[in-house]
Parts: sequence; structure tokens; C-alpha cells
Amino acid sequence: MSELREPYWHDDHAAIYHGDAREVLAEMDEGSVDSIVTSPPYWGLRNYCVGQYGQEPTSEAYVENLRATFAEARRVLADDGTCWLNVGDCYAANSDGWSRGRDYNPRQPEVRPKARLAVPPKNLLGMPWRVAFALQEDGWILRNAIVWSKPNAMPQSVRDRMSNRYELIFLLVKQQHGTAMRPTGEPHAAAHPNGRNPGDVWSIPTRPLRAEHFAAFPIDIPLRAIAAGCRPGGTVLDPFTGSGTTGIAARQLGRQFAGIELHAPFIRLAGARIREAGAASGGMR
Ligand SMILES: C[S@@+](CC[C@H](N)C(=O)[O-])C[C@H]1O[C@@H](n2cnc3c(N)ncnc32)[C@H](O)[C@@H]1O
Repeated sequence: MSELREPYWHDDHAAIYHGDAREVLAEMDEGSVDSIVTSPPYWGLRNYCVGQYGQEPTSEAYVENLRATFAEARRVLADDGTCWLNVGDCYAANSDGWSRGRDYNPRQPEVRPKARLAVPPKNLLGMPWRVAFALQEDGWILRNAIVWSKPNAMPQSVRDRMSNRYELIFLLVKQQHGTAMRPTGEPHAAAHPNGRNPGDVWSIPTRPLRAEHFAAFPIDIPLRAIAAGCRPGGTVLDPFTGSGTTGIAARQLGRQFAGIELHAPFIRLAGARIREAGAASGGMR
């Protein structure tokens, strides 16, 4: 294992490393984070820069890339840690022969892999489950498939299927026993509404981000995951940091944050947003 590189951005409670997720994870110490909350690029959807995952020519290659990355992430995660993984789905090739994500938007930059698919066009590929099954084979224990229901999802102009209004978030752990969801006494209402276990259907509106990043998830997702699954004072990791939403949630909940991101401009954006969140809350709680 080579030494962990210098962070591209950091302050007293957060650090973001510039580079490929798998390579940076390989430099991190075993068992050094308590929770992973992340959303990798979806297959065939967006193109931010060279080397990013999601541009693989086949769905199998995409799954293998995530599998190898999460093998390193598993090593870095504490034995009693939790991993919250949001993966999007997509359909087999459209009429123009390209694969597109379900929230395809022609105004957004798009990567167009020459998809070699084992199923006829129009099939939902089940990418989240392909990834989940691969991770199970590698020893991860799949504890939940959480449905992130989007009450404000825009209607889609499709006539031969239902509009899509949800995504999946997998809760994965390393060990069969001893990984507790945090008790309902945690002072984070977002995590445990009315003091109850939030269950496996999370109704969370999408929130547009007025910044140069197209795929941020709403902060309620990492807020809920961290409050439920990361020990107080622990460290949260997001190997696909993007605009830093997980880092902001970690800051708001008094956890340390380690991020990894391939695209340097996003690190600058994430760092600024995390710093701002710290200032707004008067520093770490
Ligand atoms: C879906 S976005 C994450 C969005 C993030 N959850 C947020 O709220 O802003 C995925 C991110 O992974 C980054 N990425 C893609 N390939 C990567 C790689 N090989 N290593 C590290 N980061 C990568 C992309 O640049 C993008 O910012």
C-alpha cells in the first residue's frame, strides 16, 4: 500500500483527495472510516472528464469497476461500519442505438457508450441489482434496498411504460452482527422522524443545485444515512464526492469527512460548500 496522497482541499474536519476512487482508496488505512455514503456515476449517463466511471462499453465492465472499487472501500470501512450506495438504473439501447439513463436530459452532457447488451432494447437493465449481487459475491452483506421515492419527480414523456419516480439506495455492511442503526434518541429529526426507525421507503424530493454539478443528491439522503449509520464523532467517506453533499451533511452532524473526486473543479466547489456549511452552523458541533 502506498502512502496516502496530500489532500487537494482540506480544513480541520474534512479532506478531499483528487484522483481515481479505487486508487485513492487503495492508499487509505484499513478500517479508517465509519460510514460510506455515496453515489457513483450511473452507467452511460454523464460525462464529466476522462477516466470517470460510467463510460464503460458494457454493463459488465461497469459492474466490475464498481466491484473493484468497493472491494477497496470494504477494506477501508471499520468492521462495524455502514455503506450506503445509491446507484441509478437505465434502459437497454434506445432507437438511436445508445444507452441512456432514466433521467436522461438532452441539455446535459452525456456519454454515449456503444452498449453491447445481452437483452433487447427497451429492457430496464437492473443496474443497481447487478452491482448489489456482485458486491454480495465479494462478501458484503446487503441489509436493505431502500426506495428513494421522489414525490416531485417530473412526468416523463413515455407512452409505453410508467414514469420512473424512485431510485435505490443499498445499505451494505461487513459483518452479520454488531452493526446497529443509531438509536432513536439521536437528536437528528431527519434521521428518525418521530423517534422511529425511518423504514426502507424514503420520500425525499429532488433539489436542483444551482452550481456546475448536475448529479447532486438531496442532502436529506446523507443526513439520514449518517445519523442512522455513523457513530457520533466518526468519519464519513464519499469516494465520489461530486459537489460535496455528503461532506456538508457530515459537517452538519458533527462527523469528520473524507472525500475522493476525479474532477478537480468539483473539489473546489465541494470544499467551498463544506466550508460554508461549517460557517453557517458555527463550526463542527
Ligand atoms: C453522481 S456524481 C456524485 C454526486 C454527489 N453525490 C453530490 O451530491 O454532489 C458522481 C461523481 O463521481 C465522480 N467520478 C467519476 N468517476 C470517478 C472516479 N473514477 N474516481 C473518483 N470520482 C469519480 C464524478 O466526477 C462525479 O462528480
